[in-house]
Amino acid sequence: MVAGNSRRWSRDWAPFCGRLLRRLVRFLTNLLFIGDIFASPGRSLVARHLRDIVVAENIHLSIANAENAAGGFGITPTLADELFGYGLDVLTSGNHIWDKREIFDYFVRHPRLLRPANYADELPGCGVFVVEARNGVDCGILNLQGRTHMPATDCPFRKADGLLAALPADIKVRFVDFHAELTSEKMAMGWYLDGRVSAVIGTHTHIPTADTRILPNGTAYQTDVGMTGPYHSIIGVDKDIILQRFLTQMPVRMEAARHGAELHAVIVQVDEETGRATAIKRHTVT
Ligand SMILES: [Fe+2]
Ligand SMILES: [Fe+2]
Repeated sequence: MVAGNSRRWSRDWAPFCGRLLRRLVRFLTNLLFIGDIFASPGRSLVARHLRDIVVAENIHLSIANAENAAGGFGITPTLADELFGYGLDVLTSGNHIWDKREIFDYFVRHPRLLRPANYADELPGCGVFVVEARNGVDCGILNLQGRTHMPATDCPFRKADGLLAALPADIKVRFVDFHAELTSEKMAMGWYLDGRVSAVIGTHTHIPTADTRILPNGTAYQTDVGMTGPYHSIIGVDKDIILQRFLTQMPVRMEAARHGAELHAVIVQVDEETGRATAIKRHTVT
C-alpha cells in the first residue's frame, strides 16, 4: 500500500517537480567550437589541449571545423577518425570538404562529419546532425556556406529556414557554423537567425574577429572564430609561397606553414530550456 502510494506520488509529482526545478535552476549547456583545424599544427593543438579545455570549462559538446585538416586541403577518413578520437563530437566543414575524394564514402557511416547543407542534395553527406551532449541534452548542429566569392550553392538563408523547420521543436540548443568569405554575409545570417538558433559562428577566413556578442533575441554571434593552426603564415599557408603568388600572379604549389601554432575557439553557454545563449567568450591557446 505504502509502496503503491509512493509509486503514484512519483508518477504524479515527478514531472511537476522537474519543471519547478528547471524554473528555479537554469540548466546550461556549454558548447565548444574550434575554428578551422589547419594541417598537422592544428591537429596537434587539438590533441594537446582539447581534453584540458573540456574539463576546465565544463564543456558538454565539442565541435570543430575540419575542412583544412589534411595539409590545409580537405580531410581524409584517417584524419577524421583521428580528430573524433581526440574527443570532438561533431566536425563541420566548408568549401574544402571536397578536396580529398576518399572522404566521400566516409559520410555514409559517419553522420557526425558535416558538409555545408546548401550544396546539392545529391552530393555525399549532410549539413545537419542532432547529437546528445554529455549532459543528456539533444543539440542540433547546422553547417551552411555563404555565396559571395564562394562556389555556387543554394541560398543559405532559405536553406536555414528549411532545416530549422524540420528540426523537432524540443531541440532548443541549435548551433550554426556559417562558412563564408564576407563579413557582411555572415552578419546578415546572424541577424536572420537571431532568436531561432543558439549561436551563429563564422568560419573560412582563418582570421578571428573581435565582435563576440549575444544578439538581442538570444543568438550568440562571432563573425569568424579564426583558425586553429600555424599563424606564422598567410591564412595557414607558407607565407613565402603566397607572397610569390601575389608578386608574380603565377600558379604556386601550396604548402602548410609550420610555425606559430595557435588554437582559436569560442565557448557558448546556452539555456537548454529556451535555447537562448546566456554567454559567449573567445578561447585561445597561444
Ligand atoms: Fe578553412
Ligand atoms: Fe573554407
